[in-house]
Amino acid sequence: MNAPTDTPAWAALSSHAAEQKNIKLVDRFKADEQRFEKFQLKAAGWFLDYSKNHISDETLSRLVALAEAQQVPEKFAAMFRGDTVNPTEGRAALHSALRHQKPTPVQVGGEDVMPDIRAVLDRMSSFCDSVREGRWVGYTGKRISDIVNIGIGGSDLGPLMATEALAPFAHESLRLHFVSNVDGSHIVSTLKRVDPETTLFIVASKTFTTIETLTNANTAKTWFLESSADKNDVARHFVAVSTNEAKVAEFGIDTKNMFGFWDWVGGRYSLWSAIGLPLMLCIGPHGFKQFLAGGAAMDEHAQTAPIQQNMPTILALLTVWYSNFLGASSHLIAPYDQYLHRFPAYLQQLTMESNGKSVHVDGTPVSISTGPIVWGEPGTNGQHAYFQLLHQGTHLIPADFILAAESCNPCGNHHELLIANCLAQTEALMNGKTTESVVESLRAAGTDEAEIDALKQHRTFEGNRPTNTLLVQRLDPYALGALIALYEHKVFAEAAIWNINPFDQWGVELGKQLATRLYDDMQTAVREGTQVASHDSSTNGLINRINAARHRLA
Ligand code: F6P
Repeated sequence: MNAPTDTPAWAALSSHAAEQKNIKLVDRFKADEQRFEKFQLKAAGWFLDYSKNHISDETLSRLVALAEAQQVPEKFAAMFRGDTVNPTEGRAALHSALRHQKPTPVQVGGEDVMPDIRAVLDRMSSFCDSVREGRWVGYTGKRISDIVNIGIGGSDLGPLMATEALAPFAHESLRLHFVSNVDGSHIVSTLKRVDPETTLFIVASKTFTTIETLTNANTAKTWFLESSADKNDVARHFVAVSTNEAKVAEFGIDTKNMFGFWDWVGGRYSLWSAIGLPLMLCIGPHGFKQFLAGGAAMDEHAQTAPIQQNMPTILALLTVWYSNFLGASSHLIAPYDQYLHRFPAYLQQLTMESNGKSVHVDGTPVSISTGPIVWGEPGTNGQHAYFQLLHQGTHLIPADFILAAESCNPCGNHHELLIANCLAQTEALMNGKTTESVVESLRAAGTDEAEIDALKQHRTFEGNRPTNTLLVQRLDPYALGALIALYEHKVFAEAAIWNINPFDQWGVELGKQLATRLYDDMQTAVREGTQVASHDSSTNGLINRINAARHRLA
């Protein structure tokens, strides 16, 4: 079973946690002037300060021992080698091949996959150039002005997040839209903003069976054909990104206009494949290459840096430390960068769909908590919303603060203020404010003693809240590529430690199956004017109430 809990390293950490828990972060800094120098790492243009964590040299060496016991470097090697690291689906997980920069082959099942990857990249590049340069025109000869990506999950969150993150590098006139939700409001409101003559739809679905995507794509096609366009014009306005050629053809998209990828690319790891087409349209083939190069630089680091200097592995070990030994159940992502506003949502799928698992690779149950809840919003907005709970609430919430030294939009003192806020938050979360200093400042402000007594506990901050700070020069395509790959590998290293499979997602299937059954039951009841009685009483009651409200049945 190879559960981490069976290792001596786990026992060593358990006893160590009890000793470490009560040491204040501020005291750790007082005791060691070299702490910042000691607990920092560099990789692919990113700098990580992890000194504001509840760790000592001893903690780190015990965590490293756990990573060794769980064979994290060997598991990384297996993934990069193309081994079947996703056994429940019998697949490799080779998203790293999509950004592989060297002329060396990458084998899956004895076959070099690089020629196919390069061929798709070349087709994507010439397609994107022709759209960006106005050579690919719509059915009335006008250049394309709007791109609508229709996809969901990994076929939406990655391209949406990345096109937002790299907006300063975007084509000057192409507008990008993303439709994911089966809620008709999403497609309807998007179609209101575009013109059939100048809109290009990308139907993005790995399987091409996802009901939300197909429903939205059909609505888009009907809308398009209701304009003056006819069936032959679909080819100029609809392209597909998928692994499923037969389904693409069945939908009515010419497979000449399809960009393929492979089953060894997981949905949530697919931004580097043709699923990244909206990103390439947005930042151009050159920008996309830079993005891939950033990811490849982080791959190189993940494969070659020893555990102690391996940024994704250290971040993973910190998550394991907090989740399994210090009682944390969530992890905050706080990008101090407005362009990264969809990054926490993207990471939710990456981390929670990957590591939301409760059995080991061999199917035996895990006895400890696995992937924490990931959440967040960009700073400084979060400060005026949920940061109160971080500072004075009762939960331990480790957080990653992400910051660029340079702004893509230098303007007055905005960026200096942004930086000051980011650093002030991590400092305040660590230092807190003692009751003594609260009393002192209230006295200095002339507050009377009775009021001081009433207020002092409310204004005390315990501090001692751990944070990481990730710093980069500027958020450009290379930096974003490296950042995404960093988190991908962090998630992988966590899974390696917990010995779970981060590449399947069986938990999503049940809801999909039940929705299909429920849809059929609802329609049958409406058609036949009957009540649904085949589910539990709550679900039956809700279906019948909604049917009555929608169709005025009794
Ligand atoms: O809902 C689960 C999921 O399978 C994700 O893993 C995936 O990214 C998403 O659905 C979309 O799937 P597809 O790209 O096949 O439409």
